[in-house]
Amino acid sequence: MPVNSPDNPARKILVTSALPYANGPLHLGHLLETIQTDIWVRYQRQKGNDCIYVCADDAHGTAIMLTAEKNGISPEQQIANIQAAHEKDFDQFLIRFDNYHSTHSAENKRYSEEIYLKLKANGHIASREIMQLYDPEKDLFLADRYIKGTCPKCKTEDQYGDNCEACGATYSPADLIDPKSAVSGATPIEKVSTHYFFTLPDFEQFLRDWTTGDSLQKEISNKLGEWLEAGLQDWDISRDSPYFGFEIPDAPGKYFYVWLDAPIGYMASFQNYCDRSGLNFDDYWGADSEAELYHFIGKDIINFHGLFWPAMLHSAGYRKPNAIFAHGFITVNGKKMSKSRGTFIMASTYLEHLDPEYLRYYYAAKLSASIDDIDLNLEDFVQRVNSDLVGKVVNIASRSAKFITKGRDGVMSPTLANAELWQQAVIKGEEISELYEQREYSKAIREIMALADTTNEYFDGQEPWKLAKEAGKEQLVVDVASLCINLFRLIMIYLRPVLPITAEKASSFLNADLNWNKELTPLLNHQINPFQALMTRIDKDNVAAMVTASQQGQAEVPKPAKKPTKPKQSSSTIGFEDFEKIDLRIVEIIAAEHVQGADKLLELTLSLGDDGIKKVFSGIKHAYAPEDLVGKLTVMVANLEPRKMKFGMSEGMVLAAGPGGSDLWLLEPHEGAKPGMKVK
Ligand code: 2FM
Ligand code: ZN
Repeated sequence: MPVNSPDNPARKILVTSALPYANGPLHLGHLLETIQTDIWVRYQRQKGNDCIYVCADDAHGTAIMLTAEKNGISPEQQIANIQAAHEKDFDQFLIRFDNYHSTHSAENKRYSEEIYLKLKANGHIASREIMQLYDPEKDLFLADRYIKGTCPKCKTEDQYGDNCEACGATYSPADLIDPKSAVSGATPIEKVSTHYFFTLPDFEQFLRDWTTGDSLQKEISNKLGEWLEAGLQDWDISRDSPYFGFEIPDAPGKYFYVWLDAPIGYMASFQNYCDRSGLNFDDYWGADSEAELYHFIGKDIINFHGLFWPAMLHSAGYRKPNAIFAHGFITVNGKKMSKSRGTFIMASTYLEHLDPEYLRYYYAAKLSASIDDIDLNLEDFVQRVNSDLVGKVVNIASRSAKFITKGRDGVMSPTLANAELWQQAVIKGEEISELYEQREYSKAIREIMALADTTNEYFDGQEPWKLAKEAGKEQLVVDVASLCINLFRLIMIYLRPVLPITAEKASSFLNADLNWNKELTPLLNHQINPFQALMTRIDKDNVAAMVTASQQGQAEVPKPAKKPTKPKQSSSTIGFEDFEKIDLRIVEIIAAEHVQGADKLLELTLSLGDDGIKKVFSGIKHAYAPEDLVGKLTVMVANLEPRKMKFGMSEGMVLAAGPGGSDLWLLEPHEGAKPGMKVK
């Protein structure tokens, strides 16, 4: 893979994601692919490459025509409505296309006709009469997706008319066993009609070379190899009127099958972008283009992209993609997405309840370059995002910043406290970069989190909150905290393709860029801004509300009313001398961390001013993100007998009100109170 360097300037790359059908809203399955692509594109741009990302709505076919009819609107209005919704969802998930177009466009008509005519001129279009299934109730030649029956190859029932979801075979609808019209339920009759075919067997040798080259993942190349062995067949590229699509030149009443013009939609969207940006179309699509071209797709549509598409491009005199990057399917909680389980989650439903970066991170943490399926386990999702991003990464910044912002105006140390640690993290960046390039995101995330762990361990080992109390250690404290801030910056550079908004916030806090296309140098004597919360924890109640909303057909579900609680009898009275026995103190929370293996606890490091430091374990994990606590004052019982817990010694108790879980509120004194003051 070419890599940019002073002698090898920015790579020119064009990237696409599969075009979603303009027939319904986006769901989390669509997002797996666009998030995967967007991360790759953002990574390329961050490395200084010239990476263009185009997509479009796939707007043709019988399904869209029938949906429009059902909705009482024109197909044009139908696809415009859906496209607006798609673009809004993608935008909110931070998918940054350079161009988003439609296959029902002037550019696509032009390229579809041109390519078809070239295929025809080259002798690769045949026409012949075929017996086609026809719905006698609806007066409609039945498009392949509107006939259901048993797969002629593997005998799986209830399969669509163009390809089998069970064995992946492609065939024509008339081959199905026991077909039924999915529109009316009528048993279709056979009717003769002239159809046009792309004669794919003409390309057998070309396709053997292409599928065994380095453009495809091994599993994909093997699958296509099996199909080649089984023998290629002519591909039916026409559909009869009524059909929503482009009429075939010189063939009145015949339309291009949606899958003929769909991939051409990649070119059309790019042409539309060229017209806006002044780029030259042929620089990217010409037969001898040196630009790189990659299609991200799901493994279910590999036959279209791995066989028909390269053959069409080849014959029509265009370049072929450098590679097709296929991914697996998404499951939720280990099962296929299901409406009744509430796991068929629309993009817009997710966005009503959760931050898009959570999903971007979780998908990244699971994605690899293989076609293995990915499971979105909702419990793991909450745990992973909270512990990795909030508990590890953001924690570094929140706990380090105060040692730099307090008393020295945010000016970082002029030196690196541990140059080796810094250097190792920079070198790790090269490995992480290569992992992004190879789409091995889960491995990249693992390396980045290992860096966050190393940084937190370093901070804990140095104990700057203790050093801060020792005379003459002021500079060391700043040095330690500054190194941690520098390592945090590296971590955010590496995470930026995945978390663009958090990276932007981190960049403002650091008062520094997060570029990755130049030598990574530490911030020395550099002034940072006061720390502000970069990310909040996922509240699992929001995940539950999203599932409920998905179950109830996307309707917004009001939060259940709290159960009325019985007023508690106040306990029997105590004497003043009893109260006096309790040593209540104002304390400053100087560190707050998650406790490995503890579901409810946070470990708090509390400063009692001149009376030293105490550590307590407090059951407030569901109510507070650790980074929101650091620097806050609260009240503790300082003379409680220390308690040995599974995770260590707890030297007291902080005071909080509320029933528990996420409904807990720590006491906080009015301004002016100082750590160590006695509460009387
Ligand atoms: O499978 C689908 O959802 C298709 N709409 C993808 C088309 S990708 C490309 F070929 F246009
Ligand atoms: Zn089958």
